[in-house]
Amino acid sequence: MPTTVIIGLQWGDEGKGKIVDFMAAQVDVVARFSGGVNACHTVVVDGTETRFSLVPSGALRPGITLVLADGVMIEPFNLTREINRLRDNHGFDVKRLLIGRNAIVTMPYHIRLDQACEKEAGQYAIGTTGWGIGPTRVDHVARQGVRIFEYLNPDFMKEGMLARVRQGLTPAWLLVRMLGMLYYSEEIYDEIRETLSGCITDTASFLNKAIDSGQHVLFEGAQGTLLDLVYGFYPYVTSSHTLAGSACIGTGVGPTKITAVVGVAKAYSTRVSRGPLPTEVSGDERSSLVELGQEFRHTTDIPLRVGWLDLVTLRYAVRLNTISSIALTKLDVLDAFDEIKVCVAYKRKEQVYTDLPPDLGCVEYEPVYEILKGWKSSCTEARGHADLPPQAQAYLHFIEGFVGVPIRIVSVGRDRSQTFYLGDET
Ligand code: IMO
Ligand code: MG
Repeated sequence: MPTTVIIGLQWGDEGKGKIVDFMAAQVDVVARFSGGVNACHTVVVDGTETRFSLVPSGALRPGITLVLADGVMIEPFNLTREINRLRDNHGFDVKRLLIGRNAIVTMPYHIRLDQACEKEAGQYAIGTTGWGIGPTRVDHVARQGVRIFEYLNPDFMKEGMLARVRQGLTPAWLLVRMLGMLYYSEEIYDEIRETLSGCITDTASFLNKAIDSGQHVLFEGAQGTLLDLVYGFYPYVTSSHTLAGSACIGTGVGPTKITAVVGVAKAYSTRVSRGPLPTEVSGDERSSLVELGQEFRHTTDIPLRVGWLDLVTLRYAVRLNTISSIALTKLDVLDAFDEIKVCVAYKRKEQVYTDLPPDLGCVEYEPVYEILKGWKSSCTEARGHADLPPQAQAYLHFIEGFVGVPIRIVSVGRDRSQTFYLGDET
C-alpha cells in the first residue's frame, strides 16, 4: 500500500485540506505531521464548509484513523474547541483521534508573546498568524517546552513544569513572570484533559505498524515549501519545516517507507503576509485574482497578496520535496482571463536567471513571463482531462513540461465533487 505525503509547494493556502479530503477516500489513516494552530485547511462537502486547524483534514471521511503526530504543535484550547465543533456538526467521535505523546504544546504565553512582538515590530513585523508558533518553537529548541502528555498531567503542571522552565529563562517564560500570567489552572484544564487524555499515545509505533500491516497512510503537511524555516524566504517563514522530508521527523516513520509525495499548488500565487512574492500583481489583475479566487485572510475581508504562477519557485519546490505528482487547485479562477502569464525566469540588469537566484529577497528581480492564451469559458463542471478546454489542457501541459513532473489531480471549485484525477486513481 502507498504511504503518501501531501505538502504545499508555494506560500501556504494551496488547498492542501481539499486534496487530503479528496485522497482520503482511499486511505485508512491520515496523519498531520507539522505546523500548529497557524494552519487553516478548508474542506467543502455538498456546499457545507468545514475548517480544520489541527484535526487532520481527513476527518469527514468515516472510519479513518486520524493522527496528530509528534511534529505538530498542539494548542489545547483550540484543539478541544475544534473537536467539539466536529462532534456537534458531524457526529465526530474523538476515539478516532490519536495524538503523539511528544507533541509540543503552544501555551497561552507563547501566543501573547508572538502578538506582542509583532505589535512592537510595527512595519518590520513578519506578519505571523499570531498563534504563538515562533515562541513555541524557541522554547522547544531551548528544551523548555511542554509535551502534551506532560501538559495533561496535573502533577507535572504543578511541579515539573516549574523545574523545566527554571533551567533557563526564555523570553516567553520571562513574560509569564513579569505579567504574572496564569499558565495553569485546574478548572480551565478539566475539559481539555477530559477530551484529550484518551488520545495520547506512541503514534510513531502506531504509524509504523499500520504501514507494516498494509494500511494506506496519508501524511498531511501544513504551510508551504516557501515558508519552510530553512528553504523558504527567511526570515519571512514559519518556525517549522514544511517540506516532505519533515514528514519523517514529524511522524517517526523513516524515509524508505514513503512511497509518493504529492505537491499541492494553486494555479496562481498568493501570500498572506510580508516577504518576497516575485510575481505579485497590482491594479486590475490584482482585483480580478482576489475577487475570483476569494483570496482573503481567513475570516476577514483583508485581501491576500496575489500574483501569477511562478514556475521558477515551483520547480525549486518540486526538487526540494522530490515530488511524484502535482495537485493543481483553483484552475477555475483563471477562467475569465484573456491571457495567462507564467513566470519562467527572473531578470536583473539584463541578466536572465532560470533558477532561483541566491539573493532573491535581498535584491529585486523582475519576473520574465511567458504569455499563454486564456480559455475564456467555465471549467467548473469539468470532471476529467477531456472536459477541460484545450487552452486549459495546454496550461497544465506547459507547467508539467517546465517542472518535470505530472499533474495528477486538478480542482476546479471549492466543493469535494470539483476535484478529480486526470488519469488513473493511483
Ligand atoms: P496553511 O497550512 C499561509 C505564514 C504567515 C507568516 C509566516 C509566519 O493554511 O497553508 P507563523 O504564524 O507561522 O509564525 O507565521 O507564515 N503562514 C501561513 N500562510 N498559510 C498557512 O498555513 C500559514 N501558516 C503560516 O502568514 O507570513
Ligand atoms: Mg490554509
